[in-house]
Amino acid sequence: MDAHIEGRRTLRGTMQVPGDKSLSHRAVMLGCLASGRSRIGGLSSAQDVGSTIRAFRGMGITIGTDSGETEIHGTGIAGFDDAVPGSLPEIDCENSGTSARLLMGLLSGAGKKVTLTGDDSLLRRPMLRVVEPLNDHGASIRTTDGRLPVTLTGGRVVPIHYRLPVPSAQVKSSLMLAALFLDGRSVIVEPVLTRDHTERMLMHMDGPIAIRNTQRGNEIHISGQGELSPLKLTIPGDISSAVFFIAAALVTPGSSVTIKNVLLNPTRAHILEVFRRMGARIETHVREEYPEVVGDIDVRYSKLSGVRVGGREIPLIIDEIPALAACALFARGETEVKGAGELRVKESDRISSIVHMVRAFDGSIEDAEDGFTVHGRSGCAPAEVDTFGDHRIAMAASIIALATKGRSLIRNVQCVHISFPDFFEVLENISG
Ligand code: S3P
Repeated sequence: MDAHIEGRRTLRGTMQVPGDKSLSHRAVMLGCLASGRSRIGGLSSAQDVGSTIRAFRGMGITIGTDSGETEIHGTGIAGFDDAVPGSLPEIDCENSGTSARLLMGLLSGAGKKVTLTGDDSLLRRPMLRVVEPLNDHGASIRTTDGRLPVTLTGGRVVPIHYRLPVPSAQVKSSLMLAALFLDGRSVIVEPVLTRDHTERMLMHMDGPIAIRNTQRGNEIHISGQGELSPLKLTIPGDISSAVFFIAAALVTPGSSVTIKNVLLNPTRAHILEVFRRMGARIETHVREEYPEVVGDIDVRYSKLSGVRVGGREIPLIIDEIPALAACALFARGETEVKGAGELRVKESDRISSIVHMVRAFDGSIEDAEDGFTVHGRSGCAPAEVDTFGDHRIAMAASIIALATKGRSLIRNVQCVHISFPDFFEVLENISG
């Protein structure tokens, strides 16, 4: 499927985005492990979250809908072993790295035997970052050259003591989920802060978790074989989806948009600080703080300047960098992204995809192994551009097209289903 986008449109009005994808994956997984029935409002309709739901249904766990909410019949951590067979049919995680990596930890901790696989993009992504620490603690996981398909052959995992070498919330969460099943206390140390949703959700469920801020970084202590109270939660809108509309409003003259009920957890909303450094007119109105920070975002067209990002900021904006690149093209001066080598192992090689995208619109960009530099206002012409099957590239390219005079063609946009199935409908409704 291709999208034709007519440029130079203004965005005005109030909108919502789908439920946060990271929170939705975790709500499904932890809901399945809770002792009793969980009820979750606003679960994301993204294909990735569907991959997680299908995986648990395939294990025999009941996940249904009731009065618009998702209802999960949790087995309890102790009950998981009896409720779910020891050997499971193959699980297809499709495009979802979060499903694959988190399930690997959870099912290793639970001692299940299963093969996990995925689509062509997921088959290319590195899995050793999760497999190695699990195998070092007694799991017995075989990979295909460090990638999927991986087979868990049911080793007995012992409590985990691990310092994360890569700042990755997926690795951290995978090990935390394994730790829930283990006989003893695990300690996972995170030297560089990453999204903390698993920690917050476990606390909200009265789970066996304690966090200490030390000089080494955050120490996450988890006592195994505890209990989790059922979840009662409404998932706020996904900031990683909202960011495309924030970017669109910032770069199209005359725009003014309010996005309601968005996740504003500081480990996720840091992109708003980066945009403010560029001169963006953005206001947030926080309505809730616990278990997650949630609020509304007002954004208006702004005259942007370039910005430099790197170091510890990168994990806090990792999914928002394609949208940042789109804004950089319309900013005065250079925007430099450094220390973001992780982008090379996302749904596509996002450094390479961003470079292709910016050049297709006639913009000037230089790439480095761990980032890129965009020369703002270096030119912008309507383009014919591919998405490389990457949902965030599809949306970033659409934003550039929207702000560029003329008609652009974005090829293979069906991938927006991965995180934001209604993206083009919402874009149509909000842009005049
Ligand atoms: C995610 C963590 C990040 C992010 C991904 C979702 C999560 O990946 O890019 O989209 O839900 O934990 P890494 O942990 O690999 O950085």
